[in-house]
Amino acid sequence: MGSESLVHVLLVSFPGQGHVNPLLRLGKRLASKGLLVTFTTPDSIGKQMKKASNLTDEPTPVGDGFIRFEFFEDGWDEDEPRRQDLDQYLPQLELVGKELIPRMIQKNAEQNRPVSCLINNPFIPWVSDVADSLGLPSAMLWVQSCACFAAYYHYYHGLVPFPDEKNPEIDVQLPCMPLLKYDEVPSFLHPTTPYPFLRRAILGQYRNLDKPFCILMDTFQELEHDIIEYMSRISPIKTVGPLFKNPKAPSSTVRGDFMKADDCIEWLDTKPASSVVYISFGSVVYLKQEQVDEIAHGLLNSGVSFLWVMKPPHKDAGLELLVLPDGFLEKVGDNGRVVQWSPQEKVLAHPSVACFVTHCGWNSTMESLTSGMPVVAFPQWGDQVTDAVYLVDVFKTGIRMCRGEAENRIIPREEIEKCLLEATSGPKAAEMKQNALKWKKAAEEAVAEGGSSDRNIQAFVDEVRRRSV
Ligand code: UDX
Repeated sequence: MGSESLVHVLLVSFPGQGHVNPLLRLGKRLASKGLLVTFTTPDSIGKQMKKASNLTDEPTPVGDGFIRFEFFEDGWDEDEPRRQDLDQYLPQLELVGKELIPRMIQKNAEQNRPVSCLINNPFIPWVSDVADSLGLPSAMLWVQSCACFAAYYHYYHGLVPFPDEKNPEIDVQLPCMPLLKYDEVPSFLHPTTPYPFLRRAILGQYRNLDKPFCILMDTFQELEHDIIEYMSRISPIKTVGPLFKNPKAPSSTVRGDFMKADDCIEWLDTKPASSVVYISFGSVVYLKQEQVDEIAHGLLNSGVSFLWVMKPPHKDAGLELLVLPDGFLEKVGDNGRVVQWSPQEKVLAHPSVACFVTHCGWNSTMESLTSGMPVVAFPQWGDQVTDAVYLVDVFKTGIRMCRGEAENRIIPREEIEKCLLEATSGPKAAEMKQNALKWKKAAEEAVAEGGSSDRNIQAFVDEVRRRSV
């Protein structure tokens, strides 16, 4: 069957790696169920995605459907400094998007590809307004945990007390969730957060939450059972994760990365089973130089093999290039590798990797669980501090490098060494590995045919088809 005869959904992504990856994974899953999916995001990122992943404008077959890409100009030069300021960039994106997305939809209709539904990720709630204005249904993909969705929801509606200027250190008890210490609620909600613009960006979605007919979530029923049950009674939630595990679409053909990965798999191939610590802090976190020094010494002192991702800062971020201590690489020799970007999904699936030192971004959290990989939780800010609570206390696949945000302090080398050793050998490591393997199995079952996420994706596709006639 040609792609023109399929029901067509348009996925609109905020331009950031942590946003693009899960939405693209959803796109592949929807395509595998027989939809035509068009993925769009600003050209600034689109260009990098094309370069890193050979994406084409032609529909690429995925399972029973197809996926294609259309990128749009957001009206600002690539080196425009205001891009780095969300308070300035989001209104610009909305202004341009509200004009260009309807035109894109119109052009697709003229080319016999009428769009039946729009799906967006957070930071760009205006996509639902565009859908409304064209009489189309819309849905949203929430790209953090359901627990964090619940925390923001309760904060936005003032349903339970959160830390504020008067009481900055109160603990927060949300329904069906473990008690969160004041520094374990998503840190953008804390009165002292240095990132109030991120709080505004995230809460912006809640303003428009009555518009999407469905809120898709990159989590799965069995993983966050209690809070998903609870929030499903309040919001039209459908859990469809882990989107990382797509049973039908091979991930090699259509990837969302916009950093070209260093080749480290061959090096991992030379290492014994469960011997390497993988260290990576996602796409936006940059550590302080002092913290990098402590990690380097912790690694040297522990003697563990490691693969460490140290990405260069974005050219406009005004950050100094991080450097390794003098003679570090010589001392490490073949026991470790430092790369600028890794093929993380492949790394986590590699049998030589023993554990993952992670900042607990939700994608990394889900990728660790679905790969059966124990973690050392090193959260920096935002949802990461809450994800760390779940990894350590609820999923029981991790140990803590620290509680709350690590961003504003330096974790010393002794603590790092201790965590690395605890997570790679001995009874705690074995227990965490067993638990992680249980989650891997549960995740595989959720996305397998007839599993909870598979049924939800199918129900969503059926609903889009029903609404398109
Ligand atoms: C951001 C926020 O920081 C995070 O708190 C939120 O949950 C999602 O948005 P980010 O910091 O980039 O995300 O972390 P994460 O969610 O873990 O996503 C990083 C993505 O980049 C993952 O899919 C990971 O596989 C990929 N990655 C990272 C690589 O492919 N290679 C790398 O070397 C590092």
